[in-house]
Order: sequence, then C-alpha cells, then structure tokens
Amino acid sequence: MTAILSIQDLRKVYAGGFEALKGVSLDIEEGEILALLGPNGAGKTTLISTICGITTPSAGTVTVGGHDILTDFRAARSLIGLVPQEVALEPFEKVRNTVRFSRGLFGKPTDDALVENILRRLSLWDKKDSSIKELSGGMKRRVLIAKALAHEPRVLFLDEPTAGVDVELRKDMWDIVDELKKDGVTIILTTHYIEEAEAIADRVGVINNGELLLVEDKDALMGRMGQKQLEVHLSAALDAVPAALADYNLDLGKDGRSLIYTYDIRAERTGITRLLNDVAQSGLVLTDVNTQQSSLEDIFVGLVSEGKP
Ligand SMILES: Nc1ncnc2c1ncn2[C@@H]1O[C@H](COP(=O)(O)OP(=O)(O)OP(=O)(O)O)[C@@H](O)[C@H]1O
Ligand SMILES: [Mg+2]
Repeated sequence: MTAILSIQDLRKVYAGGFEALKGVSLDIEEGEILALLGPNGAGKTTLISTICGITTPSAGTVTVGGHDILTDFRAARSLIGLVPQEVALEPFEKVRNTVRFSRGLFGKPTDDALVENILRRLSLWDKKDSSIKELSGGMKRRVLIAKALAHEPRVLFLDEPTAGVDVELRKDMWDIVDELKKDGVTIILTTHYIEEAEAIADRVGVINNGELLLVEDKDALMGRMGQKQLEVHLSAALDAVPAALADYNLDLGKDGRSLIYTYDIRAERTGITRLLNDVAQSGLVLTDVNTQQSSLEDIFVGLVSEGKP
C-alpha cells in the first residue's frame, strides 16, 4: 500500500497567535477510511482546511498523490474533494448546474452522464432542476457531497458529514462512503459521533488541542485499550461481595443479583476459570453469565480527558 496523503509536522498558527495545529504527522493509505475524532476546537477543520488549501500552513509539508500542496497546488487540489462543515451553496442555483459547475472549476470536461450518476447515487436526481433554496438541510448536505465528487477526486474529505442529519440520512451517508471506498476513493472524515467511526472507519485518529493523540487501526485500538466485564448472575441477591471472593475486586451488580468482574483482554490469564470455580465453591448458584466490552466511546473519553490540563 502507498500513502496517498502524507502530512509531516504540520503546524498552524492563526493570525492572532493561536496555535491550532502543533506538529501533526500522518500518512494515509490509498483506499482507506480514516475517522478523525476530537472535541470542538480540537483542530479538525483547521487540519482539513490546510490540506485543501483554504488556510496556509505555518510550517510542515503535505503531499497528495506525491504533489506538494504549496509548490504543486493545482495538481494536489485536483485530487481532493472537500465536503465542508458549513453549508455554502448558491441559493438560486439549480442542483444539477451546481454540480456541473463544480466539475468545470477543476477544468474537467463536461460529463453529463457522470453528473447524472452522482446525483442518482445521492438520491438527488428527482431534485436536479430544483433550486438549492427549495431543498431541506439534509438534501443540501447531499448536494455538497455531489459537488465534491464532481471532478472525480481520489481523496475525499468529509467535515462532519452527518452533523444534524436524521438517522436515515446518516445510514445513507455511510452507504455512500462504503461505495466510494469500493471505487478506491480514500476518505477522511471528522465526526463527533463515535458510533460513526465505529461503523465505517478502518483507522481512527484522535485529535485534541491541535495534537494528534493517536492514529490506530480501529479494531486493534478497541482490542488494545478495551477492557471487558464479565457479569455473573446469581439465583439469590447478595448484600455484599462474599469475603471468599475478595481477591477479585468484584463489583456488586444491580439489586445484588450479580457480580461484575473487570479484566484486561490483553492479559494472558484473565482469571475467569478460577473466578467461576471460586464462585461455585462459595455456594453461590449461577443462573447466567454475560460479557461486555468497552466501546470506542469509553476509549475516546478516557484519552481526551487525560490530555486535559
Ligand atoms: N480563522 C481563525 N482564526 C483564529 N482562530 C481560529 C480560526 N479558525 C479556527 N480557529 C481556532 O482554532 C481552533 C481549532 O478550530 P477548528 O475549527 O479547527 O476546530 P474543530 O476541531 O474543527 O472543531 P469543531 O468540532 O467545533 O468543528 C479553535 O480554537 C478555533 O477557535
Ligand atoms: Mg470543525
């Protein structure tokens, strides 16, 4: 695999002196989906805007498909599609024309079949002759995506594509991202919805205070940082954890009808076998057991709060 996007020690200091990116380095492989998670003001939009040439970097280098975003801007920019966080569309323009025009901006020849295909994929074909102002908020978001795809970019940035959209559109968006991935498009999206990263990303990056705290394969991340809980349900309620089981650091579950054991999934020995034995030995009757793994959300909240002063 080759890196289609390479970011080296990228820094951004805004005019007022605020340091929004503090040396971000990241390589993104062709065809992968990277989700960038981070709280408000973390620097996600700044990072995307800098790569897309909307703001200038203060230091560092970025290449897209081998083209430097400063010295070879046109070539780099032609490979990129951007769906901005803020909806910025011409209200009186027609949907189809908006998308056609975007393609023209990149100097690509008119291709009505391609524009039709994009509009159909985004369920906008029925609205092709509507003015932007006649569309709902979710439809406008779709138009933004259609516009970003009009010049057939190889790298697509989606800055909070599903902020404020309903569940159905969010699922549609995920399907669209999935299809684009199948076409070989590399996708970088920012999101506040952790379930979104969990659902569609190959890798997850966490950014806070202008620093990339980590970038890791999603499954590996969840496996590495995850803790698991085993809940042992009992036939009769307990008032307290029995003294015989004190070594396990157990918590008492709801109504005292279960014991909860937390263990590290990385550990060679989880202690489960011994625990279950000891539970039986102590005369308790098990009715059921179940396990629960910590989610990406728990991991994210833990990381971001650690990073706070
Ligand atoms: N043009 C600007 N001038 C000065 N500071 C700015 C400018 N744009 C952004 N910032 C600051 O840079 C920091 C990062 O902003 P950015 O928009 O990149 O955050 P974000 O991670 O996209 O947040 P959100 O989740 O709210 O979209 C913030 O503290 C913001 O106030
Ligand atoms: Mg933002």
